[in-house]
Amino acid sequence: MTDSADTTPDLSDAPTSPDAAAATPAGPGQGPVALVTGANRGIGRVIAQRLAADGFRVAGTHRSGDVPPGVLGVRADVTDVEQVDAAYKAVEAELGPVEVLVANAGVTRDTLIMRMSEEDWDTVLETNLTGTFHVVKRAARGMVRARSGRIVLISSVVGQLGSAGQVNYATSKAGLVGMARSLARELGGRGITANVVAPGFIETDMTADLDEKTVAGYQAQIPLGRMGSSEDVAAAVAFLAGPGGAYVTGALIPVDGGLGMGH
Ligand SMILES: NC(=O)c1ccc[n+]([C@@H]2O[C@H](COP(=O)([O-])OP(=O)(O)OC[C@H]3O[C@@H](n4cnc5c(N)ncnc54)[C@H](OP(=O)(O)O)[C@@H]3O)[C@@H](O)[C@H]2O)c1
Repeated sequence: MTDSADTTPDLSDAPTSPDAAAATPAGPGQGPVALVTGANRGIGRVIAQRLAADGFRVAGTHRSGDVPPGVLGVRADVTDVEQVDAAYKAVEAELGPVEVLVANAGVTRDTLIMRMSEEDWDTVLETNLTGTFHVVKRAARGMVRARSGRIVLISSVVGQLGSAGQVNYATSKAGLVGMARSLARELGGRGITANVVAPGFIETDMTADLDEKTVAGYQAQIPLGRMGSSEDVAAAVAFLAGPGGAYVTGALIPVDGGLGMGH
């Protein structure tokens, strides 16, 4: 599947997706088809760019904003099964069946357990866990048929480490490990890998609102002494999606500067 990933098609001038329902052609490409959820900003956007640079034909979901140039944009809220199905249909029509899925879309609603509302809990679980189930289930259909595929779930260091004020988020991210490992066992015989990438403290909108004291506190606990970048995370995803990741499945790869070491 990934043998052709080292060919780098020129997608740089392709149009971006200006609007909803319709998918925008990403231009000619040779590599496997990859779908990244939440590709309009943050880590997902950089993953989409990295995979496109590596020669994949990349599609990205977005609820708002736009996907990067050279990436086929499809609108989808991952909590909505019908929107997810419509997005896959658009990708299949333009690029072909999805061979690599990167389930990246995620949210936080941080607060202490005593203050955590049902809505805080439901929103995070429905997006991070159930939304991932939706996109994985839909991807599995084509991958099983092709007897080949790569599934990468974006979890978090806090899924294993725990985090005060993030009971909902940590639960959802821990759940992704069980999901990926079950998929690895269930689908391995069909040539499909399923792995987890667990970022640590990465500079994006998700961490932008943290106050200086909290940031300094985190940094003090990170052996590498700095926040990570979206590029750091994208490099791990590119490995799992590319030729080097062919015999890796059920793995949890931390990209956290050592923050979660031992967990
Ligand atoms: N930043 C970190 O330090 C860090 C650490 C560990 C793990 N992670 C994980 O990495 C992933 C990306 O995080 P990030 O930092 O890039 O976050 P971000 O900048 O807040 O971006 C989140 C992305 O997810 C999308 N999204 C959220 N809810 C969605 C839904 N219901 N349907 C479709 N898309 C949805 C957002 O779309 P909209 O723009 O439409 O909202 C956006 O594209 C998340 O799973 C996050 O949990 C991040």
